[in-house]
Amino acid sequence: MSIEQLADIARAMVAPGKGIIAIDESNATIAKRFESVGIPNSEENRRAYREMLLTTPNLGEHISGAILFDETIRQSTKDGVPFTKVMMDNGIIPGIKVDKGTHALAGCPGEVVTEGLDGLRDRLKEYAQLGARFAKWRAVINIGEDIPSGTCIEANAHALARYAALCQECGIVPMVEPEVIMDGDHDIETCYEVTEVTLRSLFDALYQHNVMLEGTILKASMVVSGKDCAEQASVDEVAESTVMCLKSAVPAILPGIVFLSGGQSDEAATAHLDAMNKLGPHPWPLSFSYGRAMQSAALKIWSQDLVGNVAKAQETVFARARDNGLAALGKWSS
Ligand code: 13P
Repeated sequence: MSIEQLADIARAMVAPGKGIIAIDESNATIAKRFESVGIPNSEENRRAYREMLLTTPNLGEHISGAILFDETIRQSTKDGVPFTKVMMDNGIIPGIKVDKGTHALAGCPGEVVTEGLDGLRDRLKEYAQLGARFAKWRAVINIGEDIPSGTCIEANAHALARYAALCQECGIVPMVEPEVIMDGDHDIETCYEVTEVTLRSLFDALYQHNVMLEGTILKASMVVSGKDCAEQASVDEVAESTVMCLKSAVPAILPGIVFLSGGQSDEAATAHLDAMNKLGPHPWPLSFSYGRAMQSAALKIWSQDLVGNVAKAQETVFARARDNGLAALGKWSS
């Protein structure tokens, strides 16, 4: 696939007023989400849940793509229509999470590195055949006493760059996600500094590995106060700090930036995105790739009646997509 084709996909992922729904929870992560609402974590429940999300009527009006998990990209509706076909029929681009999760980084207590490079070329080829047009790899950067270390930031940037180069070789747009975690009592300035150095290191590594930025999407964490910080930054402070940090570290040629929600409330995730876009225009579209902030309300409703509440849950998914789509344009009001 040519760079023009990759760039077309990347631009479609951040089309005006559209963003991405992340439904790529591993089986261990979805188990936690299901447990919180009392749903057994069976393969059929996972399939039915993802069917509910992906068959939301008119979802494609505000959603450009969905990130799936390995199990999900192989699944179908109860009527036997592959999820990837349902998505493409609704103008939703199939994406796939390809990393194999985080593991303790030897020699660096409290820090992790994302694994999954071994055999990745063959897995990407298969995912492309299954219909995936973009992929996701999430690195995790923890903030704490004396961390993150330069070693951790570089190890994760290196893995992200090798993943991204492999994706492009296989005709898949890489979404690169270096998530700076919100946990901790650090202030917003600390989050800014860590995010900036993480992004600079990532774009250095992408350059070293000949990754074409025109065919790459950044999935970023917002610059926020640590969850346990006594002083919580306002919506406007988060928006201003995040935009400034991105402008200082992300090349303008990138086709778009989407945010993760990272544990923010639904409302906060939307308000922050809206406030950032109200500060625009920016060098790149700023949109969303939310997991929890797109799904949590719908999951609660669905869990009360897995058959009877499908339509009600879908209304909630649609409302979250519409609100975040408006926020991607800076046109949302609470
Ligand atoms: P959250 O929006 O729940 O953080 O999930 C997004 C995601 O895909 C993290 O990798």
